[in-house]
Amino acid sequence: MRYRNSRRRTFGASIATVALVLAGCQAGGGDYPAQEITFVVPFSAGGPTDLVTRLIAGPMAEELGVEIIVQNVEGAGGTVAAEQVANAEADGYTVLMHHIGMSTAPTLYPNLAYQPLEDFEMIGLVTEVPMTIIGSPEFEPNTLEELIAYVTDNLDTVTYANAGIGAASQLCGLLFETATGLDLTEVPYEGTGPAMDDLLGNQVDFMCDQTTSTTDDILAGAVKPYAVTTAERLETLPDIPTTEEGGLDLLVTVWHGLYVPADTPQEVVDALNAALVAALQDEDVATELTELGAPPVTEDRATPDAHRSLLEDQIELWRPIIEDAGVTAG
Ligand code: MLT
Repeated sequence: MRYRNSRRRTFGASIATVALVLAGCQAGGGDYPAQEITFVVPFSAGGPTDLVTRLIAGPMAEELGVEIIVQNVEGAGGTVAAEQVANAEADGYTVLMHHIGMSTAPTLYPNLAYQPLEDFEMIGLVTEVPMTIIGSPEFEPNTLEELIAYVTDNLDTVTYANAGIGAASQLCGLLFETATGLDLTEVPYEGTGPAMDDLLGNQVDFMCDQTTSTTDDILAGAVKPYAVTTAERLETLPDIPTTEEGGLDLLVTVWHGLYVPADTPQEVVDALNAALVAALQDEDVATELTELGAPPVTEDRATPDAHRSLLEDQIELWRPIIEDAGVTAG
């Protein structure tokens, strides 16, 4: 896979496997952890979920004193990976990083093989990431108003990239459709990493992706930025208007959290949570995430309770929106 800038290249090369064995500095009590831990990422390498995972994996490995392997398990908008972790041993050696898609999947997938609230223990929230609506370098529109007019006039030919039903990019596309009344031609990928590659190569026209993935390309002028999906402009992208400024009723923020299978022992959950908190307080992690518009959550939100509460709220928030839009994965 092609990494588009030095920031991605650094992570892709350096933290595919995080090996830090520091005897005597385990975060938890008991025997855990006694062997390497696998972090399962539900989307492709080089995308925003992968980036956040690899960023925190280094300091978490250091805190836990064992190796952390990052494994990308793509497919079905993140549900393939979530099902795999739901069915894994409840021993803390298989950990899922997932995002907002954990809350939309129960509505999008009527036959979902797991229940987010019942089949997992929550470790804690990680980040909240704004999204950006962006176009390929050669795509004609230059502003959000022009984008909406252009898509309206060229509905049969314009393409919108997403990472499958259940991906944040798919949710953002759905909100775009609801707000504009337009029915987009969607091109699904296994993650927004490969989708961004095709966008940069002018093979798809536009997409909505997380700032952790788009900030560098926007600042480098490599893509056409139309809007940020937040109520206020971002400090990191001060020149990019909000969706509201462009007349689009679309607000969405992507949140990430860590999960282990249900019935994982409390001491294991506590050890992983302590390592997560340490990672989020790591100066390099905090700086990197903040520069990408997605500062780490505060310590009171990096908890199992705050995580569970947000997941419960988000499942209820998105259910009627998705049902009204009539989208399901069959
Ligand atoms: C990714 O990591 O590829 C993204 O989070 C996919 C998405 O949800 O749009």
